[in-house]
Amino acid sequence: MVSADNYLLEVENLKTYFPIRKGLLRRTVGYVRAVDGISFGIEKGQTLGLVGESGCGKTTVARSIVRLVPATAGQVVFERTNVLSADRVKLRQLRRQISLIFQDPYGSLNPRMTVGNAIGEPLLVAAKARRAAQTQQAFARKQGGEPSPSEGRGELIERVAVLLSKVGLSRDHINRYPHEFSGGQRQRIGVARALALGPKLVICDEPVSALDVSIQSQILNLLKDLQEEFGLTYLFIAHDLAVVEFFCDIVAVMYMGRIVEQATAEGLYRNPLHPYTRALMSAIPQVEPSLRGSRRSSSGEVPSALNPPAGCSFGPRCPLAEGDCLKQMPALKERSDDEGHFVACWKS
Ligand SMILES: Nc1ncnc2c1ncn2[C@@H]1O[C@H](COP(=O)(O)OP(=O)(O)OP(=O)(O)O)[C@@H](O)[C@H]1O
Ligand SMILES: [Mg+2]
Repeated sequence: MVSADNYLLEVENLKTYFPIRKGLLRRTVGYVRAVDGISFGIEKGQTLGLVGESGCGKTTVARSIVRLVPATAGQVVFERTNVLSADRVKLRQLRRQISLIFQDPYGSLNPRMTVGNAIGEPLLVAAKARRAAQTQQAFARKQGGEPSPSEGRGELIERVAVLLSKVGLSRDHINRYPHEFSGGQRQRIGVARALALGPKLVICDEPVSALDVSIQSQILNLLKDLQEEFGLTYLFIAHDLAVVEFFCDIVAVMYMGRIVEQATAEGLYRNPLHPYTRALMSAIPQVEPSLRGSRRSSSGEVPSALNPPAGCSFGPRCPLAEGDCLKQMPALKERSDDEGHFVACWKS
């Protein structure tokens, strides 16, 4: 599926397993297959939505891409650079270009740090790293090219003020603390922080899930405007399809560590093929609770990433499951009658 030349980010067969250790010797007794073979590509300026219920592995995909957790297998290529095998220096460069916005802006902002410091911190860290690299070279020291601390500070405040204005806050907010802001304003601070280093790709991990519905659209509109202004590319994580419909070009539906359906947002809404996608689209965002864990095999186990069922991982909850569904995992395949629409289901 991944092959186009204009992809900014390509993820290929990514797997991230977490070991489960038990006993005094902390022996590995199994693995949680949080991400179990995921592939997608995002073109420059596009938004790809990754949707699925809690625990399906969305955040682990995000964290694996920027190597906050080690991937078990697969490839992540950002602008033709292999992220997973990049050395420390390269990784630092990559992290300037790929930034993250989190669900809980309060949790991700240090309560004792002023807004100015929170937004300026990535800039300072980057400047420090740059200076350290310079001083490693003796000739650079001789030339004495470092800016004085006072010059650096004025410049920093100016850049933070510009970032604040870009996210709809004012420069008067620089010396305030996160608790003085509403949830929506705090997420604006999170957005400003994420934009500080001029990233190309922004991974938004449920950026509006914790906000009131009325505030959600303000933040989504802000993200849209910023995307246009800076030509940003987004990987947008959400657990409900309603948010994604408006926001994304391509939508990938994830279930238990895998993508079960992928299409343009328009194509997915027009013609949802996977029973799980249809369940997500129904008025009740959760899959019918009575189906949960009602495994059709005799064991009666609840499926989990630790103990995936034989056959289709959605099988135990699927109203259509029979025959092959319970024996073999369906592969993600493009529909012959609908270009760009991929589905992993024996029944569709
Ligand atoms: N560091 C870790 N160590 C062990 N297991 C983990 C770790 N991080 C995540 N997991 C497990 O991996 C699976 C996927 O978790 P993940 O946080 O990626 O899901 P998610 O789709 O982001 O869920 P949510 O919508 O609740 O944020 C879960 O079973 C989770 O318990
Ligand atoms: Mg998550």
